[in-house]
Amino acid sequence: MLKVIELFSGIGSQTQALKEAGIPHDVYGISEIDKYAIKVYRKLHGFTYNFGDIKNIEELPKVDLWTYSFPCTDISISGQMNGFDEDSGTRSSLLWQVGRLLNVAKENDALPKYLLMENVKNIVSKRFMPLFQKWIDKLNELGYKSFYKVLNAKEYGVPQNRERCFMVSILNYDGEFTFPEPIPLETTLQDLLEEEVDERYFLSDRFIKYACDMEDRNGFIRGVRFRPHDEGSKIAYTITTNPGGRATDNFVILPACAAIRGRGKGKGEYEQTLEVKQDPISNSLTTVQKDNVILVPQATKAGYAAAEVGDGIYTNRMKWKRGVVQKSMIPTLKTTCGDVGVVVNDKEDLINIRRLTPRECWRLMGWKDNDIDRAFKSGVSDTQLYKMAGNAIVVNVLTAIFKKLFNA
Ligand SMILES: C[S@@+](CC[C@H](N)C(=O)[O-])C[C@H]1O[C@@H](n2cnc3c(N)ncnc32)[C@H](O)[C@@H]1O
Repeated sequence: MLKVIELFSGIGSQTQALKEAGIPHDVYGISEIDKYAIKVYRKLHGFTYNFGDIKNIEELPKVDLWTYSFPCTDISISGQMNGFDEDSGTRSSLLWQVGRLLNVAKENDALPKYLLMENVKNIVSKRFMPLFQKWIDKLNELGYKSFYKVLNAKEYGVPQNRERCFMVSILNYDGEFTFPEPIPLETTLQDLLEEEVDERYFLSDRFIKYACDMEDRNGFIRGVRFRPHDEGSKIAYTITTNPGGRATDNFVILPACAAIRGRGKGKGEYEQTLEVKQDPISNSLTTVQKDNVILVPQATKAGYAAAEVGDGIYTNRMKWKRGVVQKSMIPTLKTTCGDVGVVVNDKEDLINIRRLTPRECWRLMGWKDNDIDRAFKSGVSDTQLYKMAGNAIVVNVLTAIFKKLFNA
C-alpha cells in the first residue's frame, strides 16, 4: 500500500489519478487552506486529515510519495510573473516550504521515496529555468534524481489544450524514468458538452459586444482573440480558474433563437420587433419565416444583424464586417460553403454563444460524471467549482504518469 501526502491538494486530482491507475494507496494527509476545496476533497475522497497551511507544518510523517502541485499564480504568463524566489513572499514561493519540510524529513530519516510536482509550462521558460534548476539542485543534494517534462492533456485522451510541467523525483536512484507516450485523441470537445444547459450560461449581448471589440489597444485587439468553438472544434483551450470572463476563454456556438414579431404601437399602428430568446430552445418552426431568425454578429453599433430563413450570411470574420446578412441573396444551401452560409429552417442551424458549464470544465479536467455529481452535491458555488477545475491537474495525464512510475 503506497502511503501518500498531497501538499497543495486542491480537490485531490493526485489521489484520483492513483485510483484510476488502480494503485492501492492510503492518503495520510493533505495540506490545503481553501475551505471549499477541502469540502469538495472530502466529498470526493472521504474524510482525510488536513495538515493545514504548509507554512505552519513542522514535520510530516514518513510516507512513500509527496505530491506538490504548488500555486502557479506568480509563474503563469497570465499572472504578474512575480516569480518564486525563496524569500519573495509570493504564493508560488511556497515551493520552498516543501524544501523546508524535506530538510526536516531528512533529519528524521523520513524522506519520501517519490516526489511528484506539477506546475505551468512557464516554469521551464528562459526566465524561470535558472530558479527551477536551483530547486532541482536542492532535490539532488537531498538525494533525489529528478525527471521533468511538459505534457499536453490533449495527448493523453482529454480534448483540452493544456500544457503543464511534471517532475518526478526518486530518492537514491541511479536509473532512468521516461514519461508516458502520447495516445491518439478519441474524445472531442463536442462529446463532453452537456445537452441541456441553463440559460445563465449564454452570453449577454453586452458581453458579446465586449468580446468582439475591434479597438486596437497598443496591438491588443480583443475581438481577434474571441474564438468560440463551433461543432468542428475538437479541443478546448486551457481551462482557467474563471472561465467565461475573458474573450480568450472557451465559448461554444449553439443554436440561438429569436423572432420578429409585429407588435401594436397603439393607434392601430404596428412595428416589427426582434424578440431574442435567451435559452437555446427554438421557437416552434412555422411557415411564417419571421418566427425564427438567427442573430449574426457584425460590426455595427447593435453588434448583430438578424437573418431569416433563406437569407445568406457571411460566416467568416463576421464580427468585424458590416452587411453580413444578405437578404435572400444566396441560394438555399443546407450547409455552409466556404465563407458563406444560408439560414435554413432547421433548429440545428441557428446559432448562439455560451460559456462552458462547471460540469463541462470538470469533464475537461478528466473527471467522470459520478464523481462530479458527488463533488457538486457539496453545494459550493459555480465560481468555486470553476476555480477548482482551473487549478486542478488533468486526471488522465497524472494517471498515465503514475502507471509508468509504479508499473501499474
Ligand atoms: C495549483 S492548486 C493545486 C490543485 C491540485 N493539484 C488539485 O488537484 O486540485 C494550488 C493549491 O494550493 C493551495 N494553497 C495555497 N496556499 C497554501 C498554503 N499556504 N498551504 C497549503 N495549501 C495552499 C491552494 O488553495 C490551491 O488549492
